[in-house]
Amino acid sequence: MQHERVETRVGLLIGLILFTVSIGGMVEIFPLVFDRGTQPIEGLQPYSALTLEGRDIYIREGCVGCHTQMVRTLRSETARYGHYSVAGEDVYERPFLWGSKRTGPDLARVGGRYSDAWHQAHLYNPRSVVPVSNMPAYPWLFENTLDGEQTAAKMSALRTLGVPYSDEQISSAAAAVRGTTEADALIAYLQTLGTDMRNYQPPAGE
Ligand code: HEC
Repeated sequence: MQHERVETRVGLLIGLILFTVSIGGMVEIFPLVFDRGTQPIEGLQPYSALTLEGRDIYIREGCVGCHTQMVRTLRSETARYGHYSVAGEDVYERPFLWGSKRTGPDLARVGGRYSDAWHQAHLYNPRSVVPVSNMPAYPWLFENTLDGEQTAAKMSALRTLGVPYSDEQISSAAAAVRGTTEADALIAYLQTLGTDMRNYQPPAGE
């Protein structure tokens, strides 16, 4: 029996197992060598110095605990928010802020939906513009100002991870941020959300 010949010779058995497994391995590993990874959508802009700081305040204040930034492919969501989220709009996001808790509305497309003045009133006291809101108030954001000391370092770190910041953007970062209130930075961030998706054309075949 052929089987017996293989199964009674341990060396041959090991050799044949390794051969078979390596074919499976190559089939899985080889394509990755040529994979270009997720490509940014056309016209995707990295966060400016100010919006990057705003994003860090969003993280610090835990906004992601109540708000997703992930429009699902559900009719009810695309009708309310706009185009569903695509991977290419998030290639510069580190870390992702997709979230999973939907106490408040999704914010992935909130940029430009309200005026800056509306956001100011809303962050200072949500009940002043949405009487039934249970969102917390964030009055301290209007008192704290940014010094911009870390901004350039944050941008360089992101650049090593592939975010295409220019030297000029990094060297002017501190000046662009210094003296602004945290509220202004956060609102600048909110106003960019989803704006790169406005002219989005799905790739052929999608
Ligand atoms: C405890 C949960 C909770 C937290 C934390 C929270 N929110 Fe909200 N947020 C809500 C709810 C509920 C609404 C809907 C009512 C309203 O508009 O106030 C909302 C609404 C919003 C809206 C309006 C969205 C729209 O499309 O109408 C924005 C913008 C917003 N939140 C931003 C933020 C930011 C920025 C933070 C962090 C600083 C934050 N939220 C933290 C619950 C939360």
